[in-house]
Amino acid sequence: MPPEIERVVISEREIADKVAELAAAIDADYVGREVLLVGVLKGAVMVMADLARALRTPASMEFMAVSSYGSSTSSSGVVRILKDLDKDITGKHVLVVEDVIDSGLTLSWLLRNLQARGPASVEVCALLRKPEAAKVEVPVRYVGFDIGNEFVVGYGLDYAERYRGLPFLGLLRAEVYTA
Ligand code: IMP
Ligand code: MG
Repeated sequence: MPPEIERVVISEREIADKVAELAAAIDADYVGREVLLVGVLKGAVMVMADLARALRTPASMEFMAVSSYGSSTSSSGVVRILKDLDKDITGKHVLVVEDVIDSGLTLSWLLRNLQARGPASVEVCALLRKPEAAKVEVPVRYVGFDIGNEFVVGYGLDYAERYRGLPFLGLLRAEVYTA
C-alpha cells in the first residue's frame, strides 16, 4: 500500500463481491434485452471492465469523457463533452456506468443530454455515491456503496491523475492535499 494512503475504505474483495451483486441485479432486470454500457471516462474504467465481465446480459460498450468546469475536488454542473459516443443510441437500453456520484451535477447534466437522443431507456449504475454531498437528486438504479463525504482514490478514482490503478478504494492522507 502506498504510504500516502491512510486506510483502506473498501477492499478489493468487497468491491469484487459488490460488482457481482450489481451484475446479478442488472441481469435480472434486463432479461430478453441487450444493454449498452456507457462508461464515463476515466474514473469508470475499472468498474466498467469488471461489470462487463460479470454480466450475462448481452452488452456492448461505449465511452464518454466529460469535464466539469470547477476545481479538482468539486464540480460546478457546467459540463463539456471531451469525447462523445461513437454510435447513435436511438432505441437502445442505455446503462450509464459511473465511478462516483458526488454533487450529482455532472450526472444530472449527462442524463439530460442522453435522454434527448431518444434511447429506449436510460439507467445508472454507480460504484459509489456520497449522499451527504448531493446538490441535485439523480435517479440511480444501481448503487454499489454509499460513503461519507470523504475523498477516496483507487479502482479508477484519482487525485491529480494518480492512484487510479490501486485495486482497492482508499483514503488519502491529508498531507497529500495540503502539500
Ligand atoms: P459530481 O458532479 O460532483 O457528482 O462529480 C463527480 C465526479 O467528481 C466523479 O466522476 C469524479 O471524477 C469526481 N469525484 C468526486 N468525488 C471523488 C472522490 O472521492 N475521489 C475521486 N474523484 C471524485
Ligand atoms: Mg467520473
